[in-house]
Amino acid sequence: VRSRIIGCGSYLPSNVLTNEELAKRVDTSDEWIVTRTGIRQRHIAADGEMTSDLAVAAATQAMEHAGVTAADIDMIIVATATPDNTFPATATKVQNRLGVVGFAFDIQAVCSGFVYALTTADMYIRNGQVKTVLIIGAETFSRILDWQDRRTCVLFGDGAGAVVVQAVEGQGTIEDQGILASRLHSDGGKYNLLYVDGGPSSTQTVGHLQMEGKEVFRHAVTNLAGVIREVLADTGLEPADIDWLVPHQANRRILDSTARKFGISEDKVVITVDRHANTSAASIPLALTEAVHDGRIKRGDIVILEAMGGGFTWGASLIRW
Ligand code: ACO
Repeated sequence: VRSRIIGCGSYLPSNVLTNEELAKRVDTSDEWIVTRTGIRQRHIAADGEMTSDLAVAAATQAMEHAGVTAADIDMIIVATATPDNTFPATATKVQNRLGVVGFAFDIQAVCSGFVYALTTADMYIRNGQVKTVLIIGAETFSRILDWQDRRTCVLFGDGAGAVVVQAVEGQGTIEDQGILASRLHSDGGKYNLLYVDGGPSSTQTVGHLQMEGKEVFRHAVTNLAGVIREVLADTGLEPADIDWLVPHQANRRILDSTARKFGISEDKVVITVDRHANTSAASIPLALTEAVHDGRIKRGDIVILEAMGGGFTWGASLIRW
């Protein structure tokens, strides 16, 4: 048994915050933000709109696109660093709202959460434990930002993306549709370069995002290149075989640098960071949904998903779409 993605969907809160509007709140400018990051605007959840609300909206669209109903879903994974509550898992709230039987849990790998969740679902399917999985990346980072800190508040946004993954009989070959290879990494020694300074067991507060931007940038470029090489080696494919790179959308300069390293031209990289900013675990399924629904990514294409985030965590999946 192997697994393949059979549908995807996404949701963005309707409220858009532009760089110009941000520049009225903190000492920054559209020019500074665009040159350093490529970000022009971000979506911000409305008061009372929670991560689970974003997740349910994205999941509903993904299930429709995949042609499945709640009765078909065996397992739900929500990748999020901004759950509604400390517990229970946001995934169980989503399960209840969708009316899914089976089981649900959250995965916490910050910006790499979607790749971690996809890899986990793939393993459950390969083990024969489940047949159809709903995977959602959903975040409300606006709630953990210090809106007085210009170094961090300009970089993030809210949103959700989802995919439905299903078992297919047989081992398959590299020519067959499916998840061909996945690799995950983490390095807890880099904890203090990107973290939230709160939590139930430490401060009993939610806390704010803290980041050493330059250091994160440096590690991201190296780690992402390494993990892409690994999934290519696992399959025997070459950089020239890649039809689409769907990266975690942290910063335009990280995306460009990764693409350049592998000789991937700009028109093969799916970019949403200009409109969505960094939506953490939601950014890959948001970008994937855009490129699948507008017809850029077609059946048979080779697609690489890759991400790096707090922890550090990083990973990649290589897919025959
Ligand atoms: N507006 C105006 N000036 C700013 C802003 C802002 N929003 N933010 C910082 N500055 C100032 C700084 O105070 C500093 O001023 P100083 O020299 O007087 O002290 C100056 O700009 C340069 O600051 P740096 O931090 O050195 O700027 P840098 O060129 O490194 O860019 C950035 C910062 C954009 C954060 C960059 O380091 C980066 O993109 N890092 C990657 C971080 C990232 O993507 N994190 C996402 C989470 S992890 C992930 O998803 C991979």
